[in-house]
Amino acid sequence: MSDAFAEHGPASSQPLTVRAAYIERLGPPEEIRYGDLTIAGPGFGDVLVEVEATTVNRVDTFIRSGAYRTPLPFPFVVGRDLAGTVVTAGPGALGFSPGQRVWCNSLGHAGRQGAAADRAVVPADRLYHLPPGVSPIDAVAVAHSAATAYLALFTHGRLRPGQTVVVVGGAGNVGSALVVMAADAGARVVALARPAAEDYCRSLGAAEVVDYRDDRWPDRVRRLCPDGVDLYLDTSGSNELGTAVGLLRQRGRIVLLAGRESRPVLPAWDVYTKDATVTGFVISQATTAELAEAARAVNHLLAAGWLRPRRTEVLPLAQTAEAHRRMEAGTLRSLRLVLTP
Ligand SMILES: NC(=O)c1ccc[n+]([C@@H]2O[C@H](COP(=O)([O-])OP(=O)(O)OC[C@H]3O[C@@H](n4cnc5c(N)ncnc54)[C@H](OP(=O)(O)O)[C@@H]3O)[C@@H](O)[C@H]2O)c1
Repeated sequence: MSDAFAEHGPASSQPLTVRAAYIERLGPPEEIRYGDLTIAGPGFGDVLVEVEATTVNRVDTFIRSGAYRTPLPFPFVVGRDLAGTVVTAGPGALGFSPGQRVWCNSLGHAGRQGAAADRAVVPADRLYHLPPGVSPIDAVAVAHSAATAYLALFTHGRLRPGQTVVVVGGAGNVGSALVVMAADAGARVVALARPAAEDYCRSLGAAEVVDYRDDRWPDRVRRLCPDGVDLYLDTSGSNELGTAVGLLRQRGRIVLLAGRESRPVLPAWDVYTKDATVTGFVISQATTAELAEAARAVNHLLAAGWLRPRRTEVLPLAQTAEAHRRMEAGTLRSLRLVLTP
């Protein structure tokens, strides 16, 4: 038993009443209630955060509906990401003190209550300092997609400077973060996007932009990358793996991260004769150490002003159910909905 544990005892806590968007059972957006809710208060190693902004990601809808199964405490406060201010940092919450601006992107799954409340309890190892001058709205709008991009590129994609990466959906939330991070790391980025988004993708650091609606896009990529592609990431979920494997160079990698319904055919011969790798990844399974490493990269790019949401719309937290409906309708494109208590 550690000294700290002996001194402060187990993580028992006083209940805490918060104003929250929550569900009492899995189901459609209509299950989301808004009102006062009593949850477990901070325990050992926890930080109590006053939430300034939260958001809705696709994964929040998967968790609310039960499409992505993970242990949840009921009633369950929805939402994964927050930015806010430290209220209290109890014993074991090293590195945090009241008044500091912070953010988190891993609440609301794996047994943890969510972020869609006026206050949230956050384990200190899942909390990061907000760089000075960065707005909580910008931070919360990019936290999920940018951390996803980092983990896909570097932890799972093993991207190195000088390598070539193809980003399908380069103008999207995850896609734009992939472009920024890969370019910042010294990779050559070929983004697939519609022509109207070409300038945007280039402004993020894409060396080449190819129109994904042109059926001949694989030929175009082949011409642009005659030695093959080191890393292929498809944020659209189309997962045309036959084409993707064909574009890879020896020891190339494909990281699957989207496309719940896709059932691609994998050309096995081409995969193994290229020593290629097809790997899957979901941020929900990332360790706290992996998330913290991603957060350092996100903070660096937020502070530099290179990582920004393309468009945001701010709604009151009371409209969380409506935000889930809009996310599920699939019409948001790169618009990020930010909710404020
Ligand atoms: N694995 C994980 O841990 C993880 C984490 C976060 C998100 N995700 C998943 O990542 C996916 C992307 O999320 P997001 O927030 O970035 O969505 P998003 O902003 O809507 O981006 C999707 C992009 O795909 C493009 N696109 C659509 N159809 C295409 C096609 N046929 N070919 C090429 N590009 C196409 C879109 O371009 P237009 O704008 O031209 O339509 C858009 O830029 C979602 O499925 C999400 O669930 C996974």
